[in-house]
Amino acid sequence: MSLLRIFQDRKNAAQKLAMISLYDAPSAKIACESGADALLVGDSLGNVVLGFDSTIPVTMADMIRHTGAVARGAKSSSRPEVPVVADLPFGSYSDKKSAAKNGVALMQNGAHALKLEGGSTLSLRAVETLVQTGAPVMGHLGFTPQSSLQMNNIVQGRNCESAHRLLREAQSLEDAGCFAIVLEAVALETAAEISLELSIPTIGIGAGAACDGQVLVWHDLIGWSDHNFRFVKKYADAKSMLSQATQEFVRETQSGAFPSEENGWKRDA
Ligand code: KIV
Repeated sequence: MSLLRIFQDRKNAAQKLAMISLYDAPSAKIACESGADALLVGDSLGNVVLGFDSTIPVTMADMIRHTGAVARGAKSSSRPEVPVVADLPFGSYSDKKSAAKNGVALMQNGAHALKLEGGSTLSLRAVETLVQTGAPVMGHLGFTPQSSLQMNNIVQGRNCESAHRLLREAQSLEDAGCFAIVLEAVALETAAEISLELSIPTIGIGAGAACDGQVLVWHDLIGWSDHNFRFVKKYADAKSMLSQATQEFVRETQSGAFPSEENGWKRDA
């Protein structure tokens, strides 16, 4: 079944969608085999694994590399049909020509759909252009990290004016052809209103349970990152587990307990 069909059917049947933002093949394989409905190669790649303090430095080359890795991981899983959505990074859709060129590059490197941020005229034009090329496009409203330098608050849609603006932008994105919209850090009532008004699904992150689905960053949900964001629920303590395993390796290597004979090969007689 096509990505668009899956998303729309779920909204129509009021069945929630689970998407995970991740960046590499082994994580993608686990996410698919754990039942995720879609994988997102988010440009949070910049903060989460590339060591930057924002998403601004993330390039098309970075996104292409990691989209390929995630797509290969998903394909190697027992659920190879799980769709991969790739983020268009900062500055890669600022005019129609670059939107089309960069969107095509991500689709040709494993993405089944694209995501871009904002509800400005520029973003709407990019959505229309990409939809015309044949790519499914997911919007992203609320807190939009690529334009965070222009934002005064993280949480959006907290007053009437901001809530109305978000609703208008969401409707424009739907009209432009988006098949779904991420709502990031949006006041609960505003996200609920948008989810009710739109025919396409909303995927929330810090936007409450009324959204049609949820997305979390892999490193946050498994407890690998140091973030303590209010909207994150840690389902494991990966950081402690990784740290404990690494300490044990270092201790055993330094003491000579590792490697033992069974970790090597004896010479043939
Ligand atoms: O980059 C990302 O991971 C995202 C999600 C947080 C929605 O955009």
